[in-house]
Amino acid sequence: MHIEVKNLNKHFGQFHAIKDVNFSITKGHLVGLIGPSGGGKTSILRMLSGLESPTSGDIYFDGKLATHLPVQERGIGFVFQSYALFKHMTVFENVAYGLKVLKKPKDFIQDRVTYLLGLMGLAGSERKYPHQLSGGQRQRVAFARALAPEPQLLLLDEPFAAIDAKIRKELRVWLRNLIDEFKVTTLFVTHDQDEAIEVADEIILVQGGKIEQQGSPWEIYTKPASSFVASFIGESNIISQYTPLIGFPYLEELQKDGQWLPDVNVMIRPESIEVRNRDVSHLATAGEKGKVTHAHFRGDSWYLEIDTGAIKLFAYQSVKEKIYQPGDEVNILIHHISVFTKTDNKLIENQAKQDPLPVFI
Ligand SMILES: Nc1ncnc2c1ncn2[C@@H]1O[C@H](COP(=O)(O)OP(=O)(O)OP(=O)(O)O)[C@@H](O)[C@H]1O
Ligand SMILES: [Mg+2]
Repeated sequence: MHIEVKNLNKHFGQFHAIKDVNFSITKGHLVGLIGPSGGGKTSILRMLSGLESPTSGDIYFDGKLATHLPVQERGIGFVFQSYALFKHMTVFENVAYGLKVLKKPKDFIQDRVTYLLGLMGLAGSERKYPHQLSGGQRQRVAFARALAPEPQLLLLDEPFAAIDAKIRKELRVWLRNLIDEFKVTTLFVTHDQDEAIEVADEIILVQGGKIEQQGSPWEIYTKPASSFVASFIGESNIISQYTPLIGFPYLEELQKDGQWLPDVNVMIRPESIEVRNRDVSHLATAGEKGKVTHAHFRGDSWYLEIDTGAIKLFAYQSVKEKIYQPGDEVNILIHHISVFTKTDNKLIENQAKQDPLPVFI
């Protein structure tokens, strides 16, 4: 189902919680709805579901006005963070519930529930009760229950929030495959930006009841619309005082009397920073000199803090590269920076990378 939301507003008494929100979701896409706590994610989801009605604005499902359609006529499946299952029903009864409400024939229900539980890796658990399952299994039953009546829209409100980190990572891949299989339009609320980046076709970032940015994970990560988005998605070094950076003469244009103009923010992603020995001399013209002030091992990489004298940066170094210790003197090459001004944002490449001679090894 194609979803369109136009000028949506929600007031709770005097409080203006959702402010003129507009977005659309392409049929079959999985959209991640993310943002800080209290931003309005659940409120948007509840209005789409019909559990809450908007103060003004409209919702269209496949081009038809659906703003005031009763919940049961919307063809929506839900999965919430917790308490999603009926505790006194078996796994089978939970999944069959929506189909019974729709008065589907017994054989049909039997086949569909068996098929869904097989797909969820839960064959053989039909007679168990929710308390006999792990958190991850319970959420998979909740997904089976939501998908059983073939919803046109799936609304997920932090479905993995109560599940431990390792299982949660497995469930991301599982969810992606599930949505590919069912091709159901899905809106997925999560606090976990990595989860959204990995799973979603598109991300909508809401803050203070407004949409900050909507785009593919790649667009949002590489071209954040504001320094807020940049700091919310991915990790970043934010530099907000005037610091000249070698290879980025554009920054000189933004300064006056040794200060950046008001509202200039510069961001450097840690993965844009290459760390090398001092003896790699070709970096000397394109990079900064620095000293490692902190290093710790994090499994797949080393976390490094480096002080250039003018700025302190953090970066990650692959375990395949040289290992640095605090006190080591290094060259660092900043490949890209993002610059935000009041009216604009730019992703800028180190000028040395445009030179005809290769400067990297
Ligand atoms: N029924 C309500 N009555 C009054 N205020 C509400 C109500 N529901 C939500 N709010 C307010 O609206 C704002 C948005 O809330 P919402 O639950 O949509 O945020 P959220 O983005 O889902 O946050 P979280 O990440 O913490 O779940 C918050 O300031 C919240 O206090
Ligand atoms: Mg919420």
